[in-house]
Amino acid sequence: MSDGTSPKATAAPAGLVTLNDQRTGKSIDLPVLDGSVGPSVIDIRKLYGQTGYFTYDPGYTSTGSCESKITFIDGDEGVLLYRGYAIEELAQQSDFMEVCYLLLEGELPNVQQKGAFEKNITYHTMLHEQLQYFLRGFRRDAHPMAVMVGIVGALSAFYHDSTDISDPKQRVIASHRLIAKIPTIAAMAFKYSTGQPFVYPRNNLSYAENFLHMVFATPCEDLKISRSVVRAMDRILILHADHEQNASTSTVRLAGSSGANPFACIAAGIASLWGPAHGGANEAVLNMLAEIGSKEHIPEFIKRAKDKDDPFRLMGFGHRVYKNYDPRAAVLRQSCHEVLEELGVHHEPLLDLAMELERIALEDEYFVNRKLFPNVDFYSGIILRAMGFPNEMFTVLFAVARTVGWIAQWKEMIEDPEQKIGRPRQLYTGYGKRPYVSMDKRN
Ligand code: SDX
Repeated sequence: MSDGTSPKATAAPAGLVTLNDQRTGKSIDLPVLDGSVGPSVIDIRKLYGQTGYFTYDPGYTSTGSCESKITFIDGDEGVLLYRGYAIEELAQQSDFMEVCYLLLEGELPNVQQKGAFEKNITYHTMLHEQLQYFLRGFRRDAHPMAVMVGIVGALSAFYHDSTDISDPKQRVIASHRLIAKIPTIAAMAFKYSTGQPFVYPRNNLSYAENFLHMVFATPCEDLKISRSVVRAMDRILILHADHEQNASTSTVRLAGSSGANPFACIAAGIASLWGPAHGGANEAVLNMLAEIGSKEHIPEFIKRAKDKDDPFRLMGFGHRVYKNYDPRAAVLRQSCHEVLEELGVHHEPLLDLAMELERIALEDEYFVNRKLFPNVDFYSGIILRAMGFPNEMFTVLFAVARTVGWIAQWKEMIEDPEQKIGRPRQLYTGYGKRPYVSMDKRN
């Protein structure tokens, strides 16, 4: 085991586990691999060839799908590290462009590296002018996530000069284009839904401020955005940037493993993120709080969340990995108070309701026994709503932030010399082979 600070070149063999098959009396030794921090793995790559068995793990609750050096999560301790740096420190001391560089390159940039990276991103923020006509094909009331999936998938038709994934230079250009253009697309999706004109990116603004400007500015007057709101937006982007092998990241890796171009892979990731069990939860939290309405109704909804016959779940609560407070939720809860204060919102009933809901849930043994704590989605929507975003834009923001994480993971996969197409197997319980029955013989 390493000292836990320096990365390993690759996983290191660390002994064996023996599988004794009582059905055949045979046994097989399987290698154990150690990472630098966190659980070791049993290498089962030879299992099927040597035993004829597949493993079975729907939802991948106990399966490591890849080796990675990007993000580490300790779910029991509520720890989240980007390239070894704690999320709390990055949220407090870094900025999103620096975090993008860190996730992509593995180290914090020096002044020159950061300046060059930021300039590269800035000068890719404009979209091909033809794309706005593609966007205008959507209904005005289309969910902005539908627009994001469609437009990002279509980027490969407009930027086909950066779709050859075997060319490192094209991979870099496609990566920078996606990170740079995703906020522009998100802002256009919002403007299109409101009937307001699109606002072009401005090269003199930071990434977060540029995004807010494209969303909220109009040609009629200059928009003043407070520094603390820009800082809060930048922090929200940092907190959502990457999160190990979650559903949407695994989708991007699987799509990329077939050699699909990065624009198509990120569109697949956006589609997966949209689900209410994943990134769509932030929108679902605000809808849930509106449905609960007041503190008096909380016990009724807690009861419903515990009822197996009721599909209702406490949105923004629980996590596949965190069995402790999601460290991102803690930062966002603090940020909530700061942003509301800055915006002069001295009384936000939704925040009061959310905090009371959290207090009651965390005292209830159902949630305590199952280690269900607030996750990243529980407080993010309240801040975004206070900033002026409608509920249906919350997951769009999650996608804007997560694009860099998806790209960093896709890049790591593509550059992995052992990379091969992802192709899981199954436990088949359907019919065995049977003869065709002609229509006249069917009942
Ligand atoms: C994100 O993976 C990531 O890293 C994702 C993410 C990222 O940054 O990429 O962190 C972002 O997606 C956060 C999660 C957002 N989703 C929600 O807030 C939706 C509500 N949460 C649940 O749907 C659920 O907690 C999941 C989907 C997040 C996790 O589900 P799991 O790991 O499959 O857990 P489970 O469904 O097996 O639940 C275990 C038990 C069950 O009860 P029992 O069968 O043991 O009796 O806990 C219960 C569940 O019924 N449970 C809940 C609950 N979450 C789990 N009960 C009520 N309300 C909930 N929210």
